[in-house]
Amino acid sequence: MSYFQWSDTLSVKVREIDEQHKTLIGMLNKLHDAHMAQKGREAQKEIIDAMVSYAKSHFETEEKYMQKFDYPGYPLHKLEHDQFTIKALDLKARVEKAGFVFTLEILEFLKGWLENHILGTDMKYSGHFAECGLC
Ligand code: FEO
Repeated sequence: MSYFQWSDTLSVKVREIDEQHKTLIGMLNKLHDAHMAQKGREAQKEIIDAMVSYAKSHFETEEKYMQKFDYPGYPLHKLEHDQFTIKALDLKARVEKAGFVFTLEILEFLKGWLENHILGTDMKYSGHFAECGLC
């Protein structure tokens, strides 16, 4: 059983975005596995770098559609993306420092943020995007 299991309740009914969410969840599971296997900081750093970079491109995809379809929740949604990006970059910087210890607490934060963001904030654009013909 994966640390974070994808289920249909997480679907925003846009195939491209669902696939991106699945990739992010897969990266988080990889990070969890690396932590449990007590892999070194270098392995964790590599996964976090990839996650930060993928999250950036995922946020850009959603923001592109929100702007294209005049989604009214765009400003607040973008603010959540920006706040998460600041935290993720801070985590990336901390991982790069010697002596940094990766914890289950950090994994729980990432998992909680992703799950709550998809189920709460992302889900709100689902109907709007569907009305605009995106699926
Ligand atoms: Fe799927 Fe708003 O991030």
